[in-house]
Amino acid sequence: MSTIATLNTERTEIAGISIRDLVEKFGTPSYVYVADRIRQQLATLRQFDVIRYAQKANSNLAILDLMRREGVMLDAVSAGELLRAQAAGYAWQGDPPPVVFTADLFDRDVLAMVQQNPIAVNCGSPDMISQYGEICPGRDITIRINPGFGHGHSHKTNTGGPQSKHGIWHEQLDQCLALAKKYQLTVSGLHIHIGSGTDFEHLSQVCGAMQGFAVRVGDSLQSISAGGGLPTPYRDQERPIDVNRYFELWQSTRQSLERAFRHPVRLEIEPGRYPVAEAGFLIAEIRAIKRMGENWFYLVDAGFNNLARPILYGAYHPMSIASRRGVSLEQHRPVIVGGPLCESGDIFTQADGGTVVHRELPVAEVGDWLIIECAGAYGFTMSSNYNSKPLAAEVMIDAGQPQLVRSRQSLTALFADEFIR
Ligand code: LLP
Repeated sequence: MSTIATLNTERTEIAGISIRDLVEKFGTPSYVYVADRIRQQLATLRQFDVIRYAQKANSNLAILDLMRREGVMLDAVSAGELLRAQAAGYAWQGDPPPVVFTADLFDRDVLAMVQQNPIAVNCGSPDMISQYGEICPGRDITIRINPGFGHGHSHKTNTGGPQSKHGIWHEQLDQCLALAKKYQLTVSGLHIHIGSGTDFEHLSQVCGAMQGFAVRVGDSLQSISAGGGLPTPYRDQERPIDVNRYFELWQSTRQSLERAFRHPVRLEIEPGRYPVAEAGFLIAEIRAIKRMGENWFYLVDAGFNNLARPILYGAYHPMSIASRRGVSLEQHRPVIVGGPLCESGDIFTQADGGTVVHRELPVAEVGDWLIIECAGAYGFTMSSNYNSKPLAAEVMIDAGQPQLVRSRQSLTALFADEFIR
């Protein structure tokens, strides 16, 4: 299918819409999401009872609306994400709960929201349990456990083990069960998320750990969540994860718990990256091409203000070029791709630790377009206004139609909330 990322090459269209048309209509830099690609990814996860999308990966309302229509539930980590869920048509109450708040603390905005609304909470610290118990005794909670190990595509995305701030330390589970009891909170579920973009071996270690913890909770347990973390094949040689094999492992954990408790146990999965990463493209325009010693630089109008993954993690994203003149780009050369920000780290082609690396890309001209691919997860949601750059536009292509789903931020909006006294 044409929307699947082809590496370091030419690209003239996304889901059948020409790059030229997209740029003429929406400008650059713009994020473009392909709705059908998201649906295809979701289809591979349907064996799980609940797909709970971690909206931190991409929380545009149009994406959340698509998820809701697909029967997907939501994870939220802030008052803003809770309100986004509501704005996209999600209800608070339901069985299973349509929205779950998972975090390691309650800020005061969230605490007020969960007090006033029947929002399901997944507690990642003993303080969350007691603060919730104080104001909402008698409700249900779920507990996020840090099983003592973790793994991620970078040490910054590992969320398990003693170096991580996430989840309730596994040795404190019994203490936390006692704490819940003190406030008549029923522990109805367990959740483990060991990291983002990890591998099959590490992800599957979680099942064994879950089994032991679940037995300690006992038969109040109605659900288990495998968390997120499913990797995306960003590089050509990487293969998609075997979701069926992953499901089978969880299925046997769930079945053994059902036998132990003699009642159904719901199996949830909580992916962020997996459904959306490959559906997203960031289109930028090459605005300068310069040579520094032996190095060629393509400088584009998107920077780490738009896509922070390379500077944060040395993350690799496939890239392609579209010619403005519509000519075919046959010659390639090694280039470094950078953005407009006044910071030497504003480079899209860098390895972990900040080493600048070359990428073989077509020989391009100023005015051609650079497309950064597999950018649908943790792209727009991690963007910033650094150097007073406005947030990019977002576009969704569905049923062959590209629609603006977020306007480009205006320049005056950048300081609209500031005062001179
Ligand atoms: N559930 C919880 C509780 C999480 O903390 C996360 C991710 C997920 C689910 C979804 O994980 P995923 O399926 O997307 O791997 N900014 C980083 C990723 C940070 C992930 C944080 N938590 C990146 O760009 O790679």
